[in-house]
Amino acid sequence: MERLKGVLDPEIGRSIVDLNMVRDITVDNGNVTVKIALTVAHCPLAKTLQTDVENAVRKPGDVESVKVETTTMTRRELEELRLRLQTASTASSTQKDGLAVGPGIERLGKRGIRSIIAIISGKGGVGKSFVTSVLASELKKRGYEVGVLDADLTGPSIAKVLGVTGKPYKGAGGGIVPLRTTSGIKVMSINLVLEDPSMPVIWRGPIVNSVIRQLYWDVDWGDLHYLLVDLPPGTSDAPLTVFQSLPLDGVIVVSSPQDLASMIVSKSVNMAKKMNAPILGLVENMSYLKCPSCGDMMKLFGEPRGEKLALSQGVPFLGAVPLDPAIARLSDEGRIEEYSSPIIASIADELRARAAKQADQLAQALPIAWSMEPSS
Ligand SMILES: Nc1ncnc2c1ncn2[C@@H]1O[C@H](COP(=O)(O)OP(=O)(O)OP(=O)(O)O)[C@@H](O)[C@H]1O
Ligand SMILES: [Mg+2]
Ligand SMILES: [Zn+2]
Repeated sequence: MERLKGVLDPEIGRSIVDLNMVRDITVDNGNVTVKIALTVAHCPLAKTLQTDVENAVRKPGDVESVKVETTTMTRRELEELRLRLQTASTASSTQKDGLAVGPGIERLGKRGIRSIIAIISGKGGVGKSFVTSVLASELKKRGYEVGVLDADLTGPSIAKVLGVTGKPYKGAGGGIVPLRTTSGIKVMSINLVLEDPSMPVIWRGPIVNSVIRQLYWDVDWGDLHYLLVDLPPGTSDAPLTVFQSLPLDGVIVVSSPQDLASMIVSKSVNMAKKMNAPILGLVENMSYLKCPSCGDMMKLFGEPRGEKLALSQGVPFLGAVPLDPAIARLSDEGRIEEYSSPIIASIADELRARAAKQADQLAQALPIAWSMEPSS
């Protein structure tokens, strides 16, 4: 039970022990069986939870095997849980939706989206779009509902790397239906709407604002665990607009070892701080090259400094991603969803732990219809 305390429900972001989801534990000579009551039957996140439980309980020389069995909470148990969560959260998050950030600027609401995370960088070409799309894929693999909003109007690349083509259409509800990738990630980008995506368009300030708002608000995103927002590079108007109009839950900063001056990174960190968006962490991309023949770590740009840099900025370090020719190839072919690596997996895990921990997410945790419907 002690070991299970640190396991968070992937939907609610709270300890499964506190949520009273652990129903039974049997120990038989180092073989442990844990019975967990899920909030929804056939929960798409059951697998994730199962793995988390196994990892928490197993300890070589002590617990050799872990078996996880699942049941589903009854309607009554769910009601109780919801009540408890709502009481717990009213104190901390009364001013979430419609939050005003400054005179004349109003943030849009969140509807059925649990966590909105923007990916930013101080300069271009460091791999924001790559990090956005590969994290989306990784979260999708874990069973989450994921959307990607391409907010980079001047250099949209999300649709391309995720291999999405076609025109979004208006659904029955009046909202624009986002397109889906092979694995089911919902994607919306200005590229998909323009008549001729190869024609350069000059977006002026106020237009940027309204286009971003439309890409977000006029789109029927449905219920999402994560909406990842790919931002244009730098700290100009465009990223600022996104900060100002979207109810962001957090940002991820991407840097590369070529960011010679840490000033480039600190600029984006400061922008996020000024806009009151919590920084979930820093990812250093193109950190080093792993030799394809001997596996040696080749430090093309000197010692990777991401971790030190994160430390000096007071933000969590999420990991260092190596240069990998497969990334460039799969991006070009629109198959980035097929990319996977241990470091990307660990960044995604770190991200979902951090996103889940955000206290004020609790308010949105259970009332979402589809996680409340116990399918019979
Ligand atoms: N770790 C990596 N290894 C190899 N190639 C990479 C890696 N990360 C990104 N790339 C490639 O580098 C190029 C730039 O990456 P990406 O488009 O994601 O950067 P960006 O920060 O979004 O750029 P922009 O500022 O223009 O939006 C792409 O061709 C991408 O495929
Ligand atoms: Mg980009
Ligand atoms: Zn080598």
